[in-house]
Amino acid sequence: MINAQNLSFVYGGSFKAVDNLSFHIKKGEIVGFAGPNGAGKTTVIKMLTGVLKPATGNAVINGFDIVKNPLEAKNSFAYVADNPDVLLQLTGLEYINFIADVYKIDSKERADRVIDLADRFGMTDSLKLPMREYSHGMRQKLMIIAALTHNPPAWILDEPMTGLDPAAAYELKNLMKEHAAKGNCVLFSTHVLEVAEKLCDHILIINHGQELYQGTVEELETAHPGKDLENIFLDMIDYSKRD
Ligand SMILES: Nc1ncnc2c1ncn2[C@@H]1O[C@H](COP(=O)(O)OP(=O)(O)OP(=O)(O)O)[C@@H](O)[C@H]1O
Ligand SMILES: [Mg+2]
Repeated sequence: MINAQNLSFVYGGSFKAVDNLSFHIKKGEIVGFAGPNGAGKTTVIKMLTGVLKPATGNAVINGFDIVKNPLEAKNSFAYVADNPDVLLQLTGLEYINFIADVYKIDSKERADRVIDLADRFGMTDSLKLPMREYSHGMRQKLMIIAALTHNPPAWILDEPMTGLDPAAAYELKNLMKEHAAKGNCVLFSTHVLEVAEKLCDHILIINHGQELYQGTVEELETAHPGKDLENIFLDMIDYSKRD
């Protein structure tokens, strides 16, 4: 459903932020994307979603190449970016409607979905307020509601848990599980390894733009007896030897 082949990206003509990364996410899977700050996760996600054009390789979402068939590909995924501070002059509902208009979501489906999502995230009363009056977590919840109002097969979420309170994080995890259980897929980046450990079928770990691991959490933990994902991760990124 999400197929990335040999993706690379170079910033400023010389800095290779992503180096020949390939992965495949199948229907029904939730995949956690981990790696230290600056590892290249956001850059990979921006290539998958068409924000950045890969230097090499390609990304195919739901059968559509993001560079060759951008409209079809973009109709196949919901994207939550890593920064929720956008269009803050709009009210939450205006922003949701703006995004829903872009995706041409009909008014009945839109209303049903927004009512349900706003209720699940405790945002019903805040939708009429300008987003500049929201807290960070409220902005993050609004970005999630707006992205998921459009309910396509693939969800691509860049650190979606950041700033969420425990109830909102719980709801988002449930939404991801429900979405995957219906035969869709979710890719999300996170620094919270406990979440990846509990929620994900597969994890993808990168550092310096290169793959360190992809596979199941179970296989990884079996290969490192007595260690949890956090300890394995710290070993992998050579935490003790970092400069
Ligand atoms: N616009 C840019 N111009 C130049 N270099 C950039 C730019 N954006 C990111 N980088 C560099 O690319 C590398 C990867 O950054 P990226 O944002 O993809 O990392 P990340 O894994 O998402 O990190 P974080 O966990 O902090 O979100 C970093 O070294 C970063 O400094
Ligand atoms: Mg990032």
